[in-house]
Amino acid sequence: MSKLTGSIKATQFTESVIREMTRLNDVYGGVNLSQGFPDFPAPAAIKEAACAAIRADINQYAVTWGAPALRESIARDFTRRHGLTIVPDEQVTVCCGSTEAMMSTMMAIIDPGDEVVIFEPFYENYGPDAILSGATPRYVTLREPDWTFDSGELSAAFNDRTKAIILNTPNNPTGKVFAREELDAIGALCRKWGAIAISDEIYEHIIYDGHRHIPIATVAGMADRTVTINGLSKTYSVTGWRVGWTISPPSLTGAIRKVHDFLTVGAPAPLQEAGAAALGLTDQYYLDLAEQYRVRRDALLEILERHHFTCYKPYGAYYIMTDISAFGFADDVEFARYLVKDVGVAAVPGTSFYKSTGAGRTKLRFCFCKRDETLWEADRRMAKLVPSIERRSPGRSPAA
Ligand SMILES: Cc1ncc(COP(=O)(O)O)c(C=O)c1O
Repeated sequence: MSKLTGSIKATQFTESVIREMTRLNDVYGGVNLSQGFPDFPAPAAIKEAACAAIRADINQYAVTWGAPALRESIARDFTRRHGLTIVPDEQVTVCCGSTEAMMSTMMAIIDPGDEVVIFEPFYENYGPDAILSGATPRYVTLREPDWTFDSGELSAAFNDRTKAIILNTPNNPTGKVFAREELDAIGALCRKWGAIAISDEIYEHIIYDGHRHIPIATVAGMADRTVTINGLSKTYSVTGWRVGWTISPPSLTGAIRKVHDFLTVGAPAPLQEAGAAALGLTDQYYLDLAEQYRVRRDALLEILERHHFTCYKPYGAYYIMTDISAFGFADDVEFARYLVKDVGVAAVPGTSFYKSTGAGRTKLRFCFCKRDETLWEADRRMAKLVPSIERRSPGRSPAA
């Protein structure tokens, strides 16, 4: 038998559909509302801090688990805003983006046979993360329109083998912000079964309509069983910098740091210095960020609804999950390909956020971390879209 093949692990997942949509978009010259990266500039102050760090010759390996200035800023910021004391030397590990922070955490805590509870729809990476770390995923569905979970279903997903639950709040792709009662229920199950909460909070500052972000680490009894994951990418519009981090209980930090060390040695040194400057921005920066995204959210909601999408209004993060049933396509992938190729707008097929067979086939995710002009151009191109009822009987209104 040929040995010139990928590993069994590598055959168990496909290439990222989100990144594939970006590539297709480039081929067809579309408007990219698929992959979640801003097309507007990052804050000048932090770009200056990065250039200054390079000029000051901070160009060699940083401390493996993170430059002291950044780790101190991360700990100070979390303690100040959430009232939970974090000790940088014992709890903070800086990684190459929250992507690596999640992977290092899972590889550090999972043994073969361990189960991990994952809410679906989920951020695409969590599936391969589970496979690569050897975890057996147990999916629990968040149901529209509010993306709530059934508490019976959640408790049935936990057992003696449950090592962890992956949480993402504010949530990609749904925009759900987990409420206090939901976090309490998750916390109670973690405590009952001795499980760890791995909480991806990368959109914590992008939150709307009076919703509040609550880190599950602050729920009673969860500080010593939560790994909080965050990063610079979304809050400071620097997805290409690749700086993220974990805040872990001291009992888990050593394992996470060892895995991180042998995966990447360390995150980019000058950009970590800039990260420390970023975390020092005033509270007004975060208020403005959320308000600017609220305006973009409302603009894209209006555009999509006008073009016959059914939208689930997000309360956090920068994505809108939509229902595409009105267009009468066989499934989400066929519609997404039509949208990028013939209409010129890229979005992400819903099935890439689900594991359960058939789930997500009527859904499509759009992102709105884009300039007004980009959203307007998407609007202009989508004028081509016609709901199936109108295609069958031209001239009738969709509601007829
Ligand atoms: C929920 C979630 N976590 C993590 C990431 C990746 O973050 P990073 O750029 O820090 O690796 C993304 C990017 O879209 C995301 O949506």
